[in-house]
Amino acid sequence: MMRTIVMVVAMVIFLCGRSSNGPVSLVSADPIGPPNLSNCNPSGSECCLPSSTPSTFIALNSSTPLRTRRALQTVLQDAPYLARLNAAYATLRRLERDAPNDPRGLEQQRKLHCAFCSELVYGSEYNMHGNWFFLPWHRMLLYYHERILAWATGDASFALPFWNWDSDAAAQKALPSSYADTTSALYSARRRAAADIQSMIQSEITGDQLFMNFGDVPESDSVIGTAGGNGNLETYGHNQVHNAVGPNGSPDMGNLAWAGYDPVFYAHHANVDRMWSVWRQLPGRSDPTSADFRDSRFVFYDENATARIIAVSFVLDHATNLRYVYENVPNTWTTRAELGPSRTVAHNDVPGGPPLTVPQTYRASATVSAEDPNVATAFVQSPDTTPRRGAIPELTLRNVAHSKGEPLALYVFINQPDAGVNTPRAGNPRYIGARFLVAGGMSMPVSFTFPIRICLEGLNLSLSRNFTVQVVRGVEFGATKRPLSIQSIDYVHDPQV
Ligand code: C2O
Repeated sequence: MMRTIVMVVAMVIFLCGRSSNGPVSLVSADPIGPPNLSNCNPSGSECCLPSSTPSTFIALNSSTPLRTRRALQTVLQDAPYLARLNAAYATLRRLERDAPNDPRGLEQQRKLHCAFCSELVYGSEYNMHGNWFFLPWHRMLLYYHERILAWATGDASFALPFWNWDSDAAAQKALPSSYADTTSALYSARRRAAADIQSMIQSEITGDQLFMNFGDVPESDSVIGTAGGNGNLETYGHNQVHNAVGPNGSPDMGNLAWAGYDPVFYAHHANVDRMWSVWRQLPGRSDPTSADFRDSRFVFYDENATARIIAVSFVLDHATNLRYVYENVPNTWTTRAELGPSRTVAHNDVPGGPPLTVPQTYRASATVSAEDPNVATAFVQSPDTTPRRGAIPELTLRNVAHSKGEPLALYVFINQPDAGVNTPRAGNPRYIGARFLVAGGMSMPVSFTFPIRICLEGLNLSLSRNFTVQVVRGVEFGATKRPLSIQSIDYVHDPQV
């Protein structure tokens, strides 16, 4: 039941910022068991769920119809579907009024997310953000939410729509119109203005960045995360859309305690889930194999308001076990990724010399600029390793200080000494990407990983070259007064060995 000991192995000695042998840290944890819903420890905002004794998940049989989750641009043409979607959320809102303790009501669905993503009222081990449980746990949440919507519509084949903001088309970066209709049960008055939502998503979520940050990346550590670290699917695309929809401080998408109360949250997460599924089907991609990941179990309420226990291993194959698939909507990050396995950037190695098999990390210290507390710079040297073919060189911003109450936006550049908030990002070959945090979420500090193969190639930098890194904290969400603080910037050629 209890999550056990976190072992930190081999913190190695660094002389003059020089590299270490072996992994920088290794986190190990046992699988976590289902939370005890009768053991809630209420904190500031109330997120306790109705207590009950859960039964185990009943596996679906193959007679359950295979459902297809469709893109919103497709379902916007389907008036009867939109009417059902609207009626389903109207039912969840009515339940909230008439039977406030029914776990299927919209406020109870919000609490379910809050309890495991923000207030952690069942224990800090049940934090479903910032680690490898982010994707499977939200897949479970959506699965049960979808069953509840199906129950509310009386249509067992009902499936969620997905908001594919990762599309190359500008129209898909906009809040889908059915959610913006003020007369609809899908509406929330607490969001940003529609034009602001679209421009914030459009400026950050580009085909190039999607490809560089996960389309091109085979390592699940980097895309899905680890037992103790977030993956790029969470902290790049997913978090930016939360911050774009919900203004800082408003009880909506911009705050994890409240996000589950906005119906667009579920269409947003269906897209995150779809991107995981699409990435997973690319050649050479796989989910974490550790039992600590696969055997962990969580609890959800089903469409009959019965609490169910479900394990991560059960949801990894969604088509077989959960009986849903996604409509295929191609775009550049997937089609470029389908072209084949990644190459590696050149390494100006000693010809004929044996490749090293032990990865070495170059750990650089980050210095905050005297003029601008939102900018930090580091000088990074090449580690002494030859990467395996297919491995992606990475930079990690290690232990970025952050307080839970605020959102965070970080923009990172290579060899851009004048970097600041106004430095152009779109189309700039020196820009390696952004990472975001949503208010109400992870406790500090947080580390972020950036795959940099494409950027190094674009700048004609081989793996044996040194370079500078600039980190700029965005001020668009209202930056803190405290200077940016990053414990180190680590450069590793071969993150998986
Ligand atoms: Cu648990 Cu999009 O958040």
